[in-house]
Amino acid sequence: MGKRIKTKIIDYGYDGEGVGKTDGKIYFVNGAMVGEEVEVECYQENSKFGRARLVNIINQSNLRQSAPCPYYGECGGCCYQHTSYQNELAIKKILFSRQLKKLGYQKESRVIPSPIQYHYRNKIKLFIKGGHMGLKKRKSNDLIEIQQCLICKEQINEAIPKINLFIKQNSECFSHVIISYIGDRGNIVLYKTCSKTIDYQNLISSLAEKFNICEVYKSQTSIVYKKAVRKETLAIKYHIHANSFHQVNERVMLELYNKVLDLLTGKNILNCYSGGGLLSGLLCQNGKFVTAIELGQKEHKEAEQLKALNDFKFMKNIQGDCGKILDQLDDNFDTIIVDPPRAGMDDLMVKNLKNKDFKRLIYISCDSATLIRDIQRLKLKIGDVYMFDMFPRTGEYECLVILDK
Ligand SMILES: C[S@@+](CC[C@H](N)C(=O)[O-])C[C@H]1O[C@@H](n2cnc3c(N)ncnc32)[C@H](O)[C@@H]1O
Repeated sequence: MGKRIKTKIIDYGYDGEGVGKTDGKIYFVNGAMVGEEVEVECYQENSKFGRARLVNIINQSNLRQSAPCPYYGECGGCCYQHTSYQNELAIKKILFSRQLKKLGYQKESRVIPSPIQYHYRNKIKLFIKGGHMGLKKRKSNDLIEIQQCLICKEQINEAIPKINLFIKQNSECFSHVIISYIGDRGNIVLYKTCSKTIDYQNLISSLAEKFNICEVYKSQTSIVYKKAVRKETLAIKYHIHANSFHQVNERVMLELYNKVLDLLTGKNILNCYSGGGLLSGLLCQNGKFVTAIELGQKEHKEAEQLKALNDFKFMKNIQGDCGKILDQLDDNFDTIIVDPPRAGMDDLMVKNLKNKDFKRLIYISCDSATLIRDIQRLKLKIGDVYMFDMFPRTGEYECLVILDK
């Protein structure tokens, strides 16, 4: 058992955890709120700071509420269920503003909330260990077995107990499973770790009505059951490949894409890190000429299929690394959109962007720290800044920054 101390919470850390100061040392306490006096147990400590578990609230904030999820606190996913959504947004805004100040940006960011705070996620990754399937505990590799996840769509929650049952009978053969549900059909992707042939009949009987099922073994994907269903968003037709990238909160995704449309300058658009092509399609639908660059094979194929299905003549999909491709493109673009993964842009991409002639850069990111780092390297003028709450109840959010030459 770690050392127990009493501390008063004076601030929030980057993941929304309470920050207390006692005897000159900073303590990060998950689930503690500013203004509260709490008793905590340290589980990690050095000479400057410590991480501690909330044991007892001596003086409770009036913004505190009880969390609806039975796994909350132990599970590493959500971190704001103990307070109102309004307060969560206020905290996220403060944290983002603090990051923006590093760029000398003093204005307020515009916040776009999620219309729903639970049952919005269309994808979950569950880990399998010792016969259990679940999520990772906070700051740990241990699992917490779950039967549902309140931020996931209902269809995913209906599937979890059925997959759990199947995993209990075959647990030694799988490392993790990814369940997704977009439109009116989902995908279950099971990652196998042994060569044994698995009998999927029970899983097919209980889940095939709503889900395609496939297994991945040594990077090879085999279809267990598939019914091809075409999806349609904003009158754009497309197919989804098992496990390709898609924004997890479709309602906030539409807000984000419509904002991008509003913010475009000119007709020639370069969409970097373009994913399955839905945003590119929306831009084409609105009369733009779009060149899209995407590294992932599955995502590139999806974008090509989307282009063909919708007859988008002014959509050009290129498969490859953005930094390398950008160097080979001679075209002049009015607006460049970048939406890299959490790690942000690499040196080559930053260098080639700096050498490119364009009027406006729209930078979308799900990690404000790498966004700030990249903007510092790009040395462009910052315009408006937006925060899209793509991931309610968790510490994450999506940001959009306009950068003009
Ligand atoms: C955050 S997602 C954005 C996808 C898309 N903008 C959307 O809204 O669906 C990032 C995408 O970048 C792709 N990607 C990662 N590294 C890349 C690279 N070096 N060059 C091009 N694409 C890359 C990933 O495969 C993924 O589809």
